[in-house]
Amino acid sequence: MIVLIFELLLLTALLVSSVYWAFLLPPQYPHNVPAVPFWVALIPFFKDVDQSDIFRKYIEGPLHRHGAVKLFFGAQWNILVHRPSYLLEIFKHEDVYQKSGNQKKIPHSVLADFLGDNIISSRGEAWKCYQSVIKPGLQRPFEVDTLANNASLLCGLIETAQKRAGKGGIPVQVLLQRYSVANCAAVLLQTELPTLQSDEVAINALQMAVKREIFKPIFMNFPILDRLPLPGRKRARNMVTAFKNQLKSALVASHVEKPVAGLESDKLGARLLAAMESSLWTEKQFLDNLTVTFVAGQENPQLLMISMLYLLAKHPQVQDQLLDEIRDKAAAAADHDAPLPEAAALQDLPLMTAVIYESLRLYPPIGQLINRRAAKDTMLGGAIYVPRGTYVGYNCYSTNRDAAAWGPAACEFRPERWGDSSESVQKHFRLRRARGEFISFHGGKRACLGERFAMFEMRVTLWVLVGRFRWSLDPGWEDRKTPVGRFCLSSGLFSSFSYPPSFRVI
Ligand code: HEM
Repeated sequence: MIVLIFELLLLTALLVSSVYWAFLLPPQYPHNVPAVPFWVALIPFFKDVDQSDIFRKYIEGPLHRHGAVKLFFGAQWNILVHRPSYLLEIFKHEDVYQKSGNQKKIPHSVLADFLGDNIISSRGEAWKCYQSVIKPGLQRPFEVDTLANNASLLCGLIETAQKRAGKGGIPVQVLLQRYSVANCAAVLLQTELPTLQSDEVAINALQMAVKREIFKPIFMNFPILDRLPLPGRKRARNMVTAFKNQLKSALVASHVEKPVAGLESDKLGARLLAAMESSLWTEKQFLDNLTVTFVAGQENPQLLMISMLYLLAKHPQVQDQLLDEIRDKAAAAADHDAPLPEAAALQDLPLMTAVIYESLRLYPPIGQLINRRAAKDTMLGGAIYVPRGTYVGYNCYSTNRDAAAWGPAACEFRPERWGDSSESVQKHFRLRRARGEFISFHGGKRACLGERFAMFEMRVTLWVLVGRFRWSLDPGWEDRKTPVGRFCLSSGLFSSFSYPPSFRVI
């Protein structure tokens, strides 16, 4: 018996050390960049700790000192880059630091099933083909009316929630999700999804259920588990298929009556359908790109809305100044009956634009992304040796708060740092972006294509929500980014708020 126990212990020790040696031991290269211990990724499994505390304690210091670190994520060691000059090099040399999304990195995963091969994760000819269809549909001018109407419906929902809550706070995340889904569906995809009229729109519930499944930290960190025939993962795969098919049906149904001008149209919904119908894309390419435009088109804006409201609630004097700016513009508008000024006039609100950029800077919706792979051995910044095949990513949260670029108050909310006229705010934005110091929309050839829509949507949203309500944080809400007592180190650190604030609105 004792011999058996001894043998078992020996076998376990052997197994553990082989796993450690094969997967968990940091790679030798690059020599001059430290490794964040692999167990840091496991802390949220064992301890109730906020993700910003983990970042500050274990990652921020070495990342800032060395400009990059080795980080264990997605069952492998990656290089996480912070220094703006390194980032510019990565953005510029797409041929060396090639996009390689989950469909390449972990093709067997549920996450890869969900997003597939799409415009964000692909490269080369496939990317050019996806871009030729999607870009014109995202870079057209957008009309104010639909967004204004949706924002007004959102206000109605907030007022109802407010009545129900009495003096308590209102958790607005679900309402903002319904609002951003409605905006994305109607304005970007020209599709009817009545999420503001009903809280039971199946596709919305399905999307939330899918996201809960795919971003479970255990599967994000150890995607090998997706190879096991676990009943929960089978359910998740079925949900993914159902979601994609429902999204396609909604798009098709909304276009059945209307004449579809195909690739001549500047409307994204019609262009996506035409790409499939003309066989430019296979059905799978259509479903993957439809999914990614829907997810990126609604989730990133929604996260930004939460950050903006959170920061305005924490800085009531900025909220007052913004309200003054909105009221002045409204008073100056020629047509006083119009619910909102035209798009061009909305752009000419310097404080509002600065509030949006400053919120994006402090809480970028995509806080960390590791989706590039070195195509050959290379020297990053002439200093860091990156062996071929290494995954390279960036931590936007960290770069956007770099004290060397933004000064000692880098972590503070100071919209005035962007300037006080529309011209200076825009100039500042372009400069910071060109220097790789503000990378919330990424940079270079692969920068976000939805920026124009996102900025427009934020302006309308702020105009209506700040014009109509006064926002403050519910004193009962604990100020942190991760849900209390729940594991939440998921797709990346700091994907804004996974424990969304609860607000009091007056
Ligand atoms: C606040 C809102 C948004 C932020 C912060 C944001 C951020 C980003 C970032 C960081 C990337 C680069 C990803 C990478 O490094 O691989 C990206 C790419 C992209 N985004 Fe956005 N995004 C936002 C809104 C949107 C919206 C509304 C859409 C509309 C569908 C959209 C569509 C895209 C597309 C198509 C790409 C791929 C561009 C390419 O590789 O050619 N984004 N976005």
